[in-house]
Amino acid sequence: MDTKELFIIQGLAGKRTLQGTVTINGAKNSALKAMAAAILFDGPVILENVPEMSDIETLANIIRKLGGRVEVKKSERGGRALIVDATGIVSTDIDVGLAKNMRGSVVLTGPLLGRYKNVKFPTPGGCVIGARPINLFISGYEKMGAKVNGRDCVYDISADKGIKGTGITFEKISVGATETLMMAAVLAKGKTVLNNCAREPEIVNVAEWLNECGASISGAGTSTIIIQGTDDKLLSAKKSFITIPDRITTGSYIILGALCAKKLTIENCRPDHLEATTKLLIESGVKMKIGEDFITVYGGGDDETDGTTKNSAYKLISNIRTQEYPGFPTDLQSPMVVFLTQCAGESVVFENIFEGRFKYVDELIKLGADITIADPREILIKGPTLFHCLPDDEELTVHDIRAGFAVVLAALLGEGKSRVTNIYLIDRGYEKLDEVLRSLGAKIKRVQGSTSGPNH
Ligand code: UD1
Repeated sequence: MDTKELFIIQGLAGKRTLQGTVTINGAKNSALKAMAAAILFDGPVILENVPEMSDIETLANIIRKLGGRVEVKKSERGGRALIVDATGIVSTDIDVGLAKNMRGSVVLTGPLLGRYKNVKFPTPGGCVIGARPINLFISGYEKMGAKVNGRDCVYDISADKGIKGTGITFEKISVGATETLMMAAVLAKGKTVLNNCAREPEIVNVAEWLNECGASISGAGTSTIIIQGTDDKLLSAKKSFITIPDRITTGSYIILGALCAKKLTIENCRPDHLEATTKLLIESGVKMKIGEDFITVYGGGDDETDGTTKNSAYKLISNIRTQEYPGFPTDLQSPMVVFLTQCAGESVVFENIFEGRFKYVDELIKLGADITIADPREILIKGPTLFHCLPDDEELTVHDIRAGFAVVLAALLGEGKSRVTNIYLIDRGYEKLDEVLRSLGAKIKRVQGSTSGPNH
C-alpha cells in the first residue's frame, strides 16, 4: 500500500468517448468472508476468482500472523486463486496494526471463536464512514455462551466449553454480523437461528460453499438463517469456493459507462444482483442491453449504430434512499450522486445505512457540483453541471473506497486535469482501476505524490 501515490486525470469535458469492455473481478466482500470461513476446515481450501486488491492482502497477512498459510496461485479455471490453510494457526490474537486498516477483519472472530474457543481482537478499523459499532457481534457471542472482556479497545472473548446454538434476533440488519455469527455457529453445539439477517448475495455465496463441505445452513439469502452446528467436526474441502462477480464494481462501471462512454460492455457480471440500480438508471434514460452475464451501456446514444457522443442530461431521479439488499446499495451511493449531477433537476439522496458517508461531496463541489448537505444523512443535488478542473496547486481527496471511484468519475467528467490523492483507498476495493480506464481510452496516470507535477 503506497499512501503517496496519486492519480492525474485528464477530464473528458462531459463527452462520452470511452469505449471497450470491462471484465468484472470476483467480489471482495465475498472473498474476504470465504478466507475467514477457511478457518472452519480441516486442511487447505482453494478460493477461486479472488480479486487482486489490498484488502484481500491485508486479511491474508492477518491470517498469516495467526500462523495460517495463504498462498496466491494461478487458477486452473483462469484468474487468481488463493490457498488458505488454517492448520498451522497457533494464535487467536488478531493483529492490532493490521486490523485497524480494515473493518472486514472482524469476520475472522466468528470462525476463530467457533474453532479455537477464544479470540482477541481490536475494535476494527476500516473506511471512515461514520460510527461502525460491533455491538451485534458482541451480544451474539454472549448469547452463544461466550464470555466477553473488553479493555482499551481490545476484546477478549472465550467460550471454554465451546459456543452453543441459540436464537438471535439482530436489532439492526448487518451484513458482517450475519456472516460472522453464521460462521461461528457452524462448528457449535446445537441449532442456531438468526433472525433479521442481511440478504446480500455474498452471504449466499459463502453459505452454499460451506454446505457443500459439510455445514448445515439453511435460509441464507432470506431474513432467517438456521445453522445446525457440527459439534466441533471440522469441514472438509470437497469443493473450491468460487467467488461471485463483484456487484458493486459492476454498478460503478455501469454508471461510468452512462456518463463517460459511447459504448461500454461489462462482462462476467451478475445483472440479477443489481436490479435496484439498473432499474433507476433505465428510468433515467440510460440505454443498456442486459444479458445473463453481461451489460452493455450506451452512454453515447441508442444503439451500436449511433456513433455520436451525445451528452445530453439524463432524466431526473427525484429520490434515492440506500437500503439493505435487494434495495439500492449504500456502496453505490457516491457514484450515483455523480450520476445525479448530470440529470436535469433537483434530487434528494438519503443515506439510510451509514451516517457520515457524504464526506466526498466537498470534492464534487470543488469541481462545480451544486450539492447541499441538508443533514448527515441527506443531500440535495441540482443538475446538470459541467464540471471544471482544479487549479494546479489543489487536489481532490479520496475518503473511502467507493467515494474514491466517485471522485475519479467526477474528475473524468471535468474539463481539464485533476489530481486525486489517497488513491490507496481505491486500491482496497477496485482492481487496477487506472489500467481498466486506460484500456477504455481514458488518460489517467498513477504517480508519486511528492515528485510529480500535473503533466500528462
Ligand atoms: C458490509 C460491506 C460494506 C457495505 C455494508 C453495507 C464488507 C467487507 N463490507 O459492511 O461494503 O457498505 O456491508 O452493505 O462486506 N451495525 C451496528 N452494529 C454492529 C454492526 C453493524 O449497529 O455490530 C450497523 C452499522 O453501523 C451500519 C449498519 O449496521 O449502520 C450496516 O452495517 P453492516 O451491514 O454491518 O456493514 P459491514 O458488514 O461492515
